[in-house]
Amino acid sequence: GYPLVQNVTVTEGGTANLTCRVEFNDNTSLQWSNPAQQTLFFGDKKALRDNRIELVRATSSELTISISDVTLSDEGMYTCSLFTMPVRTAKAYLTVLGVPEKPEIDGLTKPAMEGDHITLTCITQGSKPAADLRWFRNEKEVKGAKEVNASGKTFTVRSSLQLQVDRNDDGVAYTCRVDHVALTQAPQQATEVLEVHYAPRVEITHSLAVPQEGQYLKLECVSKGNPSPDPVMWTKDGSELPDLDRMIVEGRELTFTSLNKTDNGTYRCEASNHLGTSSAEYVLYVYDPNALGQHGTDHALIGGVVAVVVFVTLCLIIVLGRYLARHKAYPIHTLKMLMNMCL
Ligand SMILES: *[C@@H]1O[C@H](CO)[C@@H](O)[C@H](O)[C@H]1NC(C)=O
Ligand SMILES: *[C@@H]1O[C@H](CO)[C@@H](O)[C@H](O)[C@H]1NC(C)=O
Ligand SMILES: *[C@@H]1O[C@H](CO)[C@@H](O)[C@H](O)[C@H]1NC(C)=O
Repeated sequence: GYPLVQNVTVTEGGTANLTCRVEFNDNTSLQWSNPAQQTLFFGDKKALRDNRIELVRATSSELTISISDVTLSDEGMYTCSLFTMPVRTAKAYLTVLGVPEKPEIDGLTKPAMEGDHITLTCITQGSKPAADLRWFRNEKEVKGAKEVNASGKTFTVRSSLQLQVDRNDDGVAYTCRVDHVALTQAPQQATEVLEVHYAPRVEITHSLAVPQEGQYLKLECVSKGNPSPDPVMWTKDGSELPDLDRMIVEGRELTFTSLNKTDNGTYRCEASNHLGTSSAEYVLYVYDPNALGQHGTDHALIGGVVAVVVFVTLCLIIVLGRYLARHKAYPIHTLKMLMNMCL
């Protein structure tokens, strides 16, 4: 018979089993030798002093050995020989996979200023074959520029991402993920969270659409900036707020407990941080509830319509009642009374 072998792939640090089989053997010896042509096992006899190499099974039809703690230098062509005349051989290639190291992200300035151009570079070393690097911006994949360099038997893989950061990047997580055949459980990854500083942007929200005298009104100065612009400053018509009991400033809020005509004016709130200042304005016009005549006339009109409808309905009931009264015994005097009112 002829010796039969199979190629083997193992991850560095793992254990490789090399099996050589032969059918119909008449007790002829089998031998395994390494890529340097050194004999490892001759039958069940160990030939090379290497604690990592052990015998698994030696029979007349099989010779299986194992190599533990495999390193990249164990890679190569192993030979199984059957000592017939002439010698018959079979070659098995041992492929050793290099496990990529945990990736690292470089190039992040913390904090970055809005508008900055930054280049994030992710590096992983030691992969064989070359690992694949992928970038994710908050879970969503983004394209990076990949570069592969051989260093010895393994590869160093880099992937860069160029960004011009803005306020929307503040707090965004950039993840670099390594995909590789040797990573069977989970991919290796590294994550950096961007911190972006930006000048404040301010707007005023209000609790009433049509402010009227005597009403409660709350204005809020909504400001967003990083670092957070605190506190905010309120002014009225370009000067300090009047010192009134019914006008309360608390944090970002300006509250009027009871509006007055004299509160009319332009209110402005301003917020700043070390990157800049921003302001917003709100023009307050306090309506006089008595002057809002529109609603009064509406009510009168509706009242009139309701009265007419009620009257017509009553008359219909009475006409119907008169008809019924003619044919049945009804309390006619009551109906007559109502009829007189109607006609
Ligand atoms: C084993 O690996 C060698 C070297 O990579 C290759 O040439 C050969 O075709 C492989 N044999 C099998 C059976 O896959
Ligand atoms: C508005 O303020 C003026 C002067 O402070 C006061 O006389 C008046 O009664 C106030 N009006 C209301 C509706 O509170
Ligand atoms: C303030 O509002 C009243 C109406 O409530 C208006 O008559 C008056 O002209 C306004 N004053 C200013 C200074 O805008």
